Amino acid sequence: MSLRMSAINIAVLSGDGIGPEIMAETLKVLAAVSQKFRLTFDFCPALFGGAAYDQHGHPFPPETQKVCDAADAILKGPIGGPKYDSIPDVNLRPERGALLPLRKRYDTFANYRPVRLPLALQDASPLKKERLGQGVDILMIRELVGGIYFGKKERGTKVLESKKEIHFALDVMEYTEDQVERIARLAFAEAQKRKVKLHNIHKSNVLQTSVFWNEVVDRIHKQEFPSVSIEHMLVDNAAYQLVVNPSQFRVMLLENMMGDILTDQAGGVLGSLGLMPSACIGPQKAYYEPAHGSAPSIAGQNIANPYSMIGSAALMLEKSFGQPAAAEAIWNALFAVFGAGYRTKELASSVTPGAKIVSTSRFGDLVVENL
Ligand code: IPM
Ligand code: MN
Repeated sequence: MSLRMSAINIAVLSGDGIGPEIMAETLKVLAAVSQKFRLTFDFCPALFGGAAYDQHGHPFPPETQKVCDAADAILKGPIGGPKYDSIPDVNLRPERGALLPLRKRYDTFANYRPVRLPLALQDASPLKKERLGQGVDILMIRELVGGIYFGKKERGTKVLESKKEIHFALDVMEYTEDQVERIARLAFAEAQKRKVKLHNIHKSNVLQTSVFWNEVVDRIHKQEFPSVSIEHMLVDNAAYQLVVNPSQFRVMLLENMMGDILTDQAGGVLGSLGLMPSACIGPQKAYYEPAHGSAPSIAGQNIANPYSMIGSAALMLEKSFGQPAAAEAIWNALFAVFGAGYRTKELASSVTPGAKIVSTSRFGDLVVENL
């Protein structure tokens, strides 16, 4: 147990769709943790994403920026939904107008996406048991503020030599040396801490940025982490290996877009994106969010699984507030609930007895009971 005198200020951005439901369960769990570990949380709610657009005409309005600036850390639910996909100005849509600017504002370059499938949850995975080995436990580390998502974007028309006019669009993929260095360092440090191999994912047979990325990774390896073993793997092969033999991976280093795609694929290996919490860490500030979207089709029904949001709060306790014991207590409680056979509807399989299928709020209560 530790004692912290001043209140910890947490910006709470519940977001859209299932966001408010899974956030409510997370705040319940944090309230229980605050009792048990004698922490004082000051929750500061603010609108973000579609909800903010509806109210203020902007998905990341100044009011919310202020709350985030003042916070010790930001807990963010999923945002967006079909309703906002047709906002005429793409820069006011939740992804381009709120999420990417949030990442940029706090330079949250390091995205940790733990992919954990304990034995108790094996029936959730679409993979055969023999593919899962001793269970899956991968830390995917995705670079989050560089590459093609943040490069120059353009649309236009140009006239070819033949005088033919053609329409075109472009997205530029660019990485600077220090952008690669800082994420590579973190990935090596995690592999070293876990005493496991680092898989560096790339596409150096085609992309200049990958050739460059690998050179920087190799230099950091040689100069700073010579004892960590590393394997370079092409991203297309990694996509294949992730399904055929996921337990070979322990720590993976990925640039932004490859990380976006392979982390969703990892969610598929687990059997649900609802099992994907994440931490987005910058030099001064961090925010925490589930890796999935707002799941509008199941919103408001009290059936979504809150694991990804509650797990994100556990990551926050560990990484922003130096409370590994409190974080561990949350993970243990989550796994205990799964271990006892409880599932929310979308995680249930043909072997889940009806009595063990619980609502979002019941799942949250069970986590609190197991703390
Ligand atoms: C994610 C999401 C975002 C991303 C979208 C919503 C812009 O898919 O966090 O993985 O691509 O980074
Ligand atoms: Mn994604």
